[in-house]
Amino acid sequence: MLRVKTAVLISGNGSNLQALIDAAAAPGFPAEIALVISNKPDAYGLTRATHAGIATHVIAHRDYPTRDAFDSAMSDVLVAQGIQLICLAGFMRILSDGFVQQWENRLINIHPSLLPKYKGLNTHQRALDAGDAQHGATVHWVIPELDAGPIILQEALAILPGDTAETLQARVHALEHRIYPAALAKVAASG
Ligand code: GRF
Repeated sequence: MLRVKTAVLISGNGSNLQALIDAAAAPGFPAEIALVISNKPDAYGLTRATHAGIATHVIAHRDYPTRDAFDSAMSDVLVAQGIQLICLAGFMRILSDGFVQQWENRLINIHPSLLPKYKGLNTHQRALDAGDAQHGATVHWVIPELDAGPIILQEALAILPGDTAETLQARVHALEHRIYPAALAKVAASG
C-alpha cells in the first residue's frame, strides 16, 4: 500500500506527534510519518522521532532574517523529502501566507478549543472564564487566517465542577491524541 508521506512540524513536547507516530505504526494506516521538523533544537519531540527511527530536521527560526526566509527553508526541506502532507502539532510559529498557499489542501493543524471559539493561546482558561459547559479540540485545514479553515474533526468534552486550566488541558490533550490520528487517517485515505 502506498502511504501518504507526512511531515509533522513541532516546537516542543510532541505528545501529539507521539500519538501520530503510534497510530501510523499500525498496519493499514494510510499515512507514513516520514519527517519531523522543529524550529527549536531542544524540542523533546525530536527525541520521540529519533526513537521511532524518523528523520528529523531542526530549522531554527532565529537563524533566518525574515519569516519568509524561514518558511522557504522549511519548504525546501519538505519538497526535497517528497512530503505530501503536513501536520502542525504544537508548532508555535505563525506561517506566512506564501507558505500556507504553497501547501494549500496539504496542511492541517490541531487546536485545543471548539473552533471557531478561542482562536490563539490560553484556550483552557478562556473557556473556564467564560463559564462554558463544554470545551474540546479541533483538527482543521490551515488557511492564511490563524486558527480558521474548514474543520476536519472536532470533539467536545464536559467542563467539570472544580476544573482548572491544568486539569482541563490534561483531558483535552488525551482527546487530541485520539482525534489527530483519526483526522490524519481520514485526510490521507481521501487524498
Ligand atoms: C496541543 O495542545 C495542540 O493542540 C496545540 O499545542 C499543543 C501541543 O502539545 N496546538 P504537544 O507538543 O503535542 O504535547
